[in-house]
Formats: sequence, structure tokens, C-alpha cells
Amino acid sequence: MTRDAPTPVTVVGLGSMGRALAEAFLDAGHRTTVWNRTPAKAAPLVAKGAGHARTVEAAIEASPLIITCLTTFEDTRSALEPAAAALSGRALVTLNSGSPADARAMAGWASSHGARFLAGAVKNVPAAVGAPDTLLYYGGDKTVFDDYETTLKVLGGDTVHLGAETDLAALYEMAVGAMLLPALVGFFQGAAVVQTRELEASSMVRFAGKWLDMIKSLLPIYAKEIDSGDYTDAASSVNLFLAGAAHEEDLAEETHVDTAWLTPLHDLVKRAAEAGHGDHSISALTEVLRKSERKA
Ligand SMILES: NC(=O)c1ccc[n+]([C@@H]2O[C@H](COP(=O)([O-])OP(=O)(O)OC[C@H]3O[C@@H](n4cnc5c(N)ncnc54)[C@H](OP(=O)(O)O)[C@@H]3O)[C@@H](O)[C@H]2O)c1
Repeated sequence: MTRDAPTPVTVVGLGSMGRALAEAFLDAGHRTTVWNRTPAKAAPLVAKGAGHARTVEAAIEASPLIITCLTTFEDTRSALEPAAAALSGRALVTLNSGSPADARAMAGWASSHGARFLAGAVKNVPAAVGAPDTLLYYGGDKTVFDDYETTLKVLGGDTVHLGAETDLAALYEMAVGAMLLPALVGFFQGAAVVQTRELEASSMVRFAGKWLDMIKSLLPIYAKEIDSGDYTDAASSVNLFLAGAAHEEDLAEETHVDTAWLTPLHDLVKRAAEAGHGDHSISALTEVLRKSERKA
């Protein structure tokens, strides 16, 4: 495969994300073959020049590089199973969410059928696919990454190989993804609070964005504390957050906004204080989380 000729690519799974992946390949001039369980979803891509495989086997046979984007690893295996023999010698790249254990199981299945395998994750929404700063990361066979790095970068300029272990993308996907729901629910709670004063959620956006920038600026500092296990240089202590918890309760009473989702978080802060971390940095919560995980 020369670096100059765009690699023929097959995209299996044409939901919101799979469609965006196929479009990016088409826009970049790759001969793109698509397959989806519900065939009608292929039509807009065919109109843009994609080849429509009638069977999953034909889809796999069309390209040396197979990108799948189904809901889960289990769905991916079940869709590919009838054509598993065709995978031998090809590069299979999954781009669905899932647990590290599921990624390892998928890797075992792929290698039992002779496929070279990478498990990846798209860390953005479909509309961001193809942008220069869109992040995708991969774990698994480095030769696949090296052979197809240029092609994979069509999906996002910030494309990273995390290592040879096939579950690394799933691990980081879940580790980083853990921040999403608490951050969003926090914003939704804030929106509900300002609405109790007839103010629009939009009025919060600039300030919430600055707040997220501030949180982002703290991450390297907290990571250093966690990695060293030294929490003594506390810019914001566990006790400070404990005091903040009381204000949240007052706010809930005043506004009647349901803040019950915060109760387990406040409990975590309380347990950290009880464990002797009161004067330590709030990043010491990691110690409590790790211990909870060990007990489970
Ligand atoms: N959308 C996002 O914002 C986003 C962002 C990052 C990561 N992701 C991840 O990308 C993956 C796909 O997400 P999506 O948003 O594209 O989902 P989606 O729109 O719900 O599409 C799901 C796709 O999986 C196919 N599928 C599911 N089960 C199947 C099975 N048993 N056999 C064959 N095909 C099956 C569906 O086929 P049918 O069309 O026939 O139903 C469809 O093509 C997920 O793991 C998701 O977590 C999504």
C-alpha cells in the first residue's frame, strides 16, 4: 500500500457516528464501501459515492481496512460473525464504546480469525469527525496503526496510539468519560437554579465555560498530587468542599431544585475528611475512591 494512494476502506455500522466516519473517508477521496444492518441508512452515502455492500462478507472483502462502529462489541461480533473467515489478513478497527474486558474479548475473537486488530474510541460527537483537533485513540497492533495512520487521521487530526494492549482505548474512554455526566448534570442543576429566578440557562454559558477552563487548568496539578501521593500542598482542601456541601443544601431548600444527585459526592468528601484528609487537597478523594474499589 503506497502512502500516496488513499486506502480503500470499509465502514460497517452506519448509525450517527458510523455515517460521519464514512463521510469523512469519502470527503478525503478514499474508495469507501459501507454496510449496515438496516440497508436504507446507506443511501445518503451511496449518493456521495460510497459502494454499498449487500452482505457483510462483501463489505469485508472490499477493503484491507475495516472500520466498525456499532453500538457494542457484542453487536460488532454478531454482525461480523457470518463473514469471520473473510477477516483473515485484514486490519479490523473497532470504534464503539465498551468496557476494557469487552475490548479484550473482541481482540481475542478478531485474532482467532486472523485479523490484525485495533480497538479505538472517538472522543467527540459525529459533527466533529474529520476536524484537525478531534481526538481518537487506539490500543492494539501497532503495525495496523503504522500502516494506516494517515487514513485514520482522516477521522480526526489528534490521533493517538496508546499502546499494544487492546483494551487501552476502552480504559481511557471510560476513565476520561467518567467526567462527562457529573459535569453535565452540574450544568443542568445550575440551569434549573437560575430558571427559578426567571433567568435563562443561556445567561450561565459564558461563566460556566470559564469555570470549566479553571477546572481544566487544575487537572495537571491534581494529577501530580495523585501520582506522587502527596496531598499536603492544598490550594483547595477537603474541608473547604465539606463546607461547600452545606451551602448546596441551603440552595436546595431555597430553590426546591432537586440536588439529591450530589448526596453520594458529599458523602465521599465526608469520608475523605473522616479518613484524615480534611486538610489535604481535594485530590485526596482519589485515595478514598481507590480504597472503595478495592473493598468491592
Ligand atoms: N453518537 C455519538 O455522539 C458518539 C460519540 C462517541 C462515541 N460513540 C460510540 O459510537 C458507537 C455507535 O454510536 P452511534 O451514535 O452511531 O449509535 P447509533 O446511531 O445508535 O447506531 C448504532 C449502529 O449499530 C448498529 N447495530 C447495533 N446493533 C447491531 C447488531 N446486533 N447487528 C448489526 N448492527 C447493529 C445499528 O444498525 P441499525 O441501523 O440496523 O440499527 C447502527 O448502525 C457507540 O458505541 C457509541 O458509544 C458515539
